[in-house]
Parts: sequence; C-alpha cells; structure tokens
Amino acid sequence: MKKQFIALLIALMPMAVMAAGAKVPLLPFETNLEDKASLQNGMKLFVENCMGCHSAKYQRYERAADDLEMDKDFVLKNLVRGDSKIGDQMTIAMSTANATSWFGAPPPDLSLEARLRGPAWVYTFLHSFYVDPERPWGVNNKVFADVGMPNVLEGMQGVQACKDEHCAELELVKAGSMTPAEFDTAMYDLTNFLAYVGEPSKMVSGKIGIKVLIFLAILFVFAYLLKKEYWKDVKSGSWREKH
Ligand code: HEC
Repeated sequence: MKKQFIALLIALMPMAVMAAGAKVPLLPFETNLEDKASLQNGMKLFVENCMGCHSAKYQRYERAADDLEMDKDFVLKNLVRGDSKIGDQMTIAMSTANATSWFGAPPPDLSLEARLRGPAWVYTFLHSFYVDPERPWGVNNKVFADVGMPNVLEGMQGVQACKDEHCAELELVKAGSMTPAEFDTAMYDLTNFLAYVGEPSKMVSGKIGIKVLIFLAILFVFAYLLKKEYWKDVKSGSWREKH
C-alpha cells in the first residue's frame, strides 16, 4: 500500500511541477457581490468588449438583471446582443472552428472562468498584456504565455512593454483613454462580474443564510420561553403532583 502510494506521488509530480510553472505574482482581488454598481458596470464592459469572442452561456440576461437590480427594458435595449431575448443565455454567434483558425485557440466560454482560475488570476491577466513583436497579434501576456487573444484592452489601458529583457515588470509606454486608476476600476468591475457569473447562487445563498439565522433567533426565543414554563412546574413541584 505504501509503495503504491509513493508510486502515485511520483506519477503526479510532473503535474505539480507544471502547475507551479513560471509563477507571476497575482494582484490582490476581493470579490464584492454587494456592490451592484460595480457588477452592472462589469456586465456592460463584458458585453461591449468581450462578447465579440467569448460567451457566458450559463448566465441568462434576465437572471443578471434580477440579481444586479437592473431594469429589464434597459437590459434588453442596451445589453442583450443580436436577436437574443431577455430570457436567453449570454451566447455568441462565432463558431469554434472559425475562432480556432483565426486565433489558434478558440476563445473559451467565460461562465466558469473566475471559478476555475480564481478572480485574482483573471484580474491580473487583464492587466498583463504587453508588446511582443514575435506574436501573431503583436502582444503577449505575463500570466498566460503566448496567449492567442489579441489585446482588446489597449484602447482603454494604453500600450505596455517589458521594462527589461527578463520582463520582470511592465511599464506603460503609451497612454490609453483611461488613467491607470480608471483602468484598475474598470478591470475590477469586469472581474467582479465574472466572479458573480461563476457563482450566481452565492448571492441567493447569502440571503437565505440571513433568513435562516433570523428564523433560528426567533425559534430560540420560543424555546427559551417554553423551557422556562416547564421548569416553573418542575421547581414548584406541581409537575410531580400532576403525574
Ligand atoms: C477578438 C477576440 C477576443 C476578444 C474580444 C476577447 N478575447 Fe479573451 N480570448 C480570446 C482567445 C482566442 C483566447 C484563447 C487564448 C488561448 O488559449 O491562447 C482568449 C482567452 C481569454 C482568457 C483565458 C482563458 C483561459 O484559457 O483560461 C480570458 C480570462 C479572457 N480571454 C478574457 C477576456 C475578457 C475579459 C475579454 C473582454 C475584455 C476578452 N477576453 C475579449 C479572444 C478574445
């Protein structure tokens, strides 16, 4: 048994090494599902900048409108794409075959991305594109080496380049339409939205959790009063007389 266990460990070792890879420190990120304004802005950014290539097929527009407290007419007019209906999933028209021939790899569905990679990874990824003339789109990414995605954020962020030959750090060499602080906020909102999409039931379970606690508190009051009532009889001895 022990030998088999060791054999298994050795078999798994290359995976662990691969997972460790070239680690780039991730930017700190804390999801905030209470911040509805952030989630709404994140959804708008996602629809406008990402849904040309990525779907979020486990997310329905209508569910997002409810959870993020948005008017359904507003969502239908401004965020629902193509001839999708408010009750539809956030899908796109691009076929996997076309996408693969254009980008070398298909843009994956992003419904579960924040759950798979972690929101901090997504947030860092969105900050980490840099100029690399060797790559087909002229850009590379520090947390996703040789990524097939073009840098669609360049207009907002500006152009980043490696500071030195090892590319330990990136620097902004051309300003975008946003200041670095504005870009951080935009990417925060976008990642926050993707974190929500990965776990829409968390928002509901938070609400249920509070209801359960209130219920338990009320139950406690009644249980306590009942106990007091019983003990009154026990202490006065009337319980014994009755039985
Ligand atoms: C022009 C098409 C295109 C657009 C627009 C686009 N992407 Fe991508 N994206 C890709 C492709 C292609 C890949 C796959 C890259 C690969 O596997 O090398 C990808 C990969 C990714 C990944 C990594 C997926 C993984 O494998 O874990 C994330 C995260 C991502 N995109 C987020 C976004 C976000 C957020 C936006 C909107 C700001 C966006 N993308 C816009 C084409 C696009």
